[in-house]
Amino acid sequence: MAGWVASGPWCAPARRLMERNLARYDLPLSHAGKLAAGSWLILRDYADGRFPPRFEDQQAAYRAEMEFHSSMNSYTREQSIAGHVVKPFWTPRMFSGYTRAFTRLWEVLQALDLGPGARLLELGCGAGWMTEFLALGGFSLVGTTIAPDDIAIGEGRVRSLVARGLPAERLQFRQAPMESVDAAVADLPRFDAVFVFEALHHAYDWQAAIHAAARCLKPGGWLLLANEPNRLHTFVSYRVSRLTNTHEIGMSGPALRAELRRAGLDEIRTFAPRLDLRITAHWVAGRSAPAPV
Ligand SMILES: C[S@@+](CC[C@H](N)C(=O)[O-])C[C@H]1O[C@@H](n2cnc3c(N)ncnc32)[C@H](O)[C@@H]1O
Repeated sequence: MAGWVASGPWCAPARRLMERNLARYDLPLSHAGKLAAGSWLILRDYADGRFPPRFEDQQAAYRAEMEFHSSMNSYTREQSIAGHVVKPFWTPRMFSGYTRAFTRLWEVLQALDLGPGARLLELGCGAGWMTEFLALGGFSLVGTTIAPDDIAIGEGRVRSLVARGLPAERLQFRQAPMESVDAAVADLPRFDAVFVFEALHHAYDWQAAIHAAARCLKPGGWLLLANEPNRLHTFVSYRVSRLTNTHEIGMSGPALRAELRRAGLDEIRTFAPRLDLRITAHWVAGRSAPAPV
């Protein structure tokens, strides 16, 4: 039925739009165009058994994320890297959204009693803009992510902090898949908190990532899942996930909280959403058991 609808003449404009978009990542599309093209793609892929997405090949998933900067058909690798070096300074509107999210992250850390001096581990830090901002705010940071190009950008950030007179140990970057991040930082003391911002939903196995992160915590340490998308995201971002060959899935609040508990983080704090209609992004934290007194 879905295949019949997708191949019908009524879907031809949406199909043509999606075909042009697949050939050109940055094709300018209106909101209605994105909705039409994305809905057609879901319909067609549902008929072919490709939607909802299933992630079966870990190496392929890792490779796609590691080669992200080289995979855009509208940008060269150098252009993509140059674009990410300056995140969040993209457009005034995007800057405003990202800096509001950063402010919220900082406030949530404060609500969890984590202030300057605390040692934080970030998962999926990308080009590391939040990692650097938090280091400037006085925290001590280890940023981890899967793409080597992003680690190179991060190392440039460390050099620039040192050039400004900040201590080098305030910020470091390591390449690591978040599903096994504990192995990558096994030589370091455990962390006061681990956080992931808008990246857990890109993981090949987000449940494994939560467990690996929990193993990096000190007794009484917090794992914070920040601005991770809700269920609707699987539909809304399916078009982008196909264009960028990356994972874009939405997660449910109950599933996230259940996994935090399974990872031994029994004290749970949910900051958002207040009313879960499967739309608003999650801000949720779980705490490891405090050391016995
Ligand atoms: C949407 S970006 C967000 C990056 C960063 N948190 C930010 O706000 O700029 C998602 C990031 O997750 C990283 N990523 C994807 N899969 C990963 C994995 N399995 N382990 C570690 N990082 C991963 C990607 O390389 C990318 O940098």
